Amino acid sequence: MNQLKIKRIGVLTSGGDAPGMNAAIRSLVLAAQHYHIEVIGFYHGYNGLVCQENISEAKSLTLKDVNGIIHCGGTILKSARCPQMLTTQGVKQAAKTLNEQAIDALVVIGGDGSFNGLIALKEYWPGQLIGIPGTIDNDVDGTDFTIGFATAVNTAIEAIDKIRDTADAFERIFIVELMGRHSGHITFNVGIACAAEQVLSFENFSVDDQSKKLAELASEIKAAKENRHSSYIIVIAENLWPGGAAKLAEELKQAANIDCTACILGHIQRGGSPVPKDRLIATKMGVASVQAIIAGENHIMVAEQHSAICYIPLKQAIKHHKRVNQQLVDAQENILAVTAQTQY
Ligand code: F6P
Repeated sequence: MNQLKIKRIGVLTSGGDAPGMNAAIRSLVLAAQHYHIEVIGFYHGYNGLVCQENISEAKSLTLKDVNGIIHCGGTILKSARCPQMLTTQGVKQAAKTLNEQAIDALVVIGGDGSFNGLIALKEYWPGQLIGIPGTIDNDVDGTDFTIGFATAVNTAIEAIDKIRDTADAFERIFIVELMGRHSGHITFNVGIACAAEQVLSFENFSVDDQSKKLAELASEIKAAKENRHSSYIIVIAENLWPGGAAKLAEELKQAANIDCTACILGHIQRGGSPVPKDRLIATKMGVASVQAIIAGENHIMVAEQHSAICYIPLKQAIKHHKRVNQQLVDAQENILAVTAQTQY
């Protein structure tokens, strides 16, 4: 029952695109149709609200628009980062557009940076503001998973398994740099699932210990190479080691004459067809966002905890970055990495 008489929901995708965003848009449009609500899609992230001279930035989304998109990566609404939303003028323009378009509620699919835009809008626009967590980084607090994370992990695992084949053939050392901005969810999950010999991330490395870590790595690689003839893979989070994977390879060569090949997986992790897990959470969250609006919820993020949908205050979701599961970190640090060094 649509007792609040919601007529129009606005939706946009913002920040780094994530596989599964299309699945969320699709289910939101389907659910809205079910409750006789129109959906207006705003294009290019918040730019679709801020730059309204261009009429093509807003479009009514029908079932036809979302047919056949559940398996597609990227986002049919396009995405962007929008510096104007950091200014009062930009936020006021966004509020004006929402009023002009007679929007009752706005749903933003994105990461915590995108949710800051929603919180800014709260000051200037009285409608309902709802977030859906969509980022490959999985760093949004209050939800067990963000849309896109499972696919990014899967993509990186497939790539590193291939790197492992060639690394094994040549008994080479690879340093593979993974995305995640400033969090290690992708790095830890992928590193463990690929049986990487080393996982280097924010959770187990501080730049203050850079020289110590370089010496440690050099001696562990040398010991491993003396004991066995095989490949050696280090996965490393982006933005961690000053200069990144290429610089670490250079430093290992200089410090200990160790030859490593640096490989930056980069944006390959953002693309591709979403895996079932992402299609499913995206679909659940899209439906739940419409139901939340009808139930009168406001300033919340639709989340999933222990497989159940719940609503988290937006302010809480952006307060901290979600930490990497400590059991995963401990298992890698205290058991897997240590035993792998000595046993093979
Ligand atoms: O937030 C998603 C993400 O892919 C991060 O992992 C990465 O640091 C960043 O976006 C890259 O942003 P851009 O595509 O703008 O270079």
